[in-house]
Amino acid sequence: MANNTLILGLQWGDEGKGKIVDALAEKAGAVCRFQGGHNAGHTLKVDGVQKVLHLVPSGILHPNVHCVLGNGIVLSLSALAKEIKELQESDINFKDRFYVSEDCSLILPTHIAIDKVRDQSEGIGTTGRGIGPAYEDKIARRALRFGDLKNLEELKVKLAKLVNYHNQILEHLYKAKPVEFEHVLEELTGNLDLYNQYHCKTQDLLKVWVKEGKNILFEGAQGSMLDIDHGTYPYVTSSSTTAGGLSSGLGVGPRYLDTILGITKAYTTRVGEGPFATELFDSNAEQLAKVGHEFGATTGRPRRCGWLDLKALETIVFINSVTNLCLTKLDVLDGFDEIKVCIDYDETEQPIYKTFSGWKQDTSKAKSFEDLPEAAQDYILFIEQALDCPIDIVSVGPSREQTIYRN
Ligand code: IMP
Repeated sequence: MANNTLILGLQWGDEGKGKIVDALAEKAGAVCRFQGGHNAGHTLKVDGVQKVLHLVPSGILHPNVHCVLGNGIVLSLSALAKEIKELQESDINFKDRFYVSEDCSLILPTHIAIDKVRDQSEGIGTTGRGIGPAYEDKIARRALRFGDLKNLEELKVKLAKLVNYHNQILEHLYKAKPVEFEHVLEELTGNLDLYNQYHCKTQDLLKVWVKEGKNILFEGAQGSMLDIDHGTYPYVTSSSTTAGGLSSGLGVGPRYLDTILGITKAYTTRVGEGPFATELFDSNAEQLAKVGHEFGATTGRPRRCGWLDLKALETIVFINSVTNLCLTKLDVLDGFDEIKVCIDYDETEQPIYKTFSGWKQDTSKAKSFEDLPEAAQDYILFIEQALDCPIDIVSVGPSREQTIYRN
């Protein structure tokens, strides 16, 4: 029987989704993305070699898996071209198995210029990839879409209007340098090959696949707490990163989902600005950052670190109707004397913690739940109970082999 699975990060991104999608992709027919753009960074370790994917779904590393970028994506053609080229150089084949929705909104060099200059005053700490401005144009119904590459003459007319609009913002609002029209046009005309090879009516394709019973993995990017509606607004990304984003971003209704797998680290991290109730500023933060290699895969920025926040997770599990959980980076906690989890907030919104004694043992070689030290098992069982959702997968290291499947 087919099992269509949605995989979502439950925190502020970087939960280790890439590795889990990659492992589950082995049994999948297709892996599809429905939101975000090349602001994502999925780090995978395959045969000892590290790969970072920003836009292409993690399933691409499996030769028989089809991969889709849905209409909900914002697409930078140059970023996609670069990523495909790098993967092709590692002998990864895209032919007849990679599809890009004609309805994706395009990220233009002017979006990137606006994003960067605006963030200097607004201080969201964006990835500078043009994500916010591109989604703005989509919602305002003035975006160029991937399908517009079909007709170059019409495209040029639409583009001239849009670039003029963007340059007005750059020059008059931000006193910044405008971007030359020719440069923006080149970004599109220089990448027509992408259109010719990969454009697709992906919603039609998905309808067929769902009816055929192909196992489909839907791969969320960023994390639920960065959701435009349910996240820590305005310190969020500009797309629907929660489960609802799937229906709009690919055209697949909720009825066709069998499993909603929520991924959370065994602690919490965040890149960029914004509230973070359980953030640490002491030697524990340094230890989490150092042992967990907590630097952004897209921007290289150091990540802020703190304890797990079960109060926030409980709400996020509800919003996404998570059916199963995966706990990642448990091994990062191996060296701690004490481990805390936030179970509630007090009247001043400060976290109330429950303290666990650390296990002080290497978990990175554990093959089963029973191999884990008792204190680590207790930690996992407590989280499971608090969130009222089974933790089916525990990840204890970056490679595919360091994954414990419980059920
Ligand atoms: P934007 O998505 O570039 O607009 O950035 C908005 C916020 O989302 C910033 O705080 C970014 O650091 C954060 N963000 C965007 N993509 C990711 C991601 O893949 N992982 C973690 N944080 C992200």
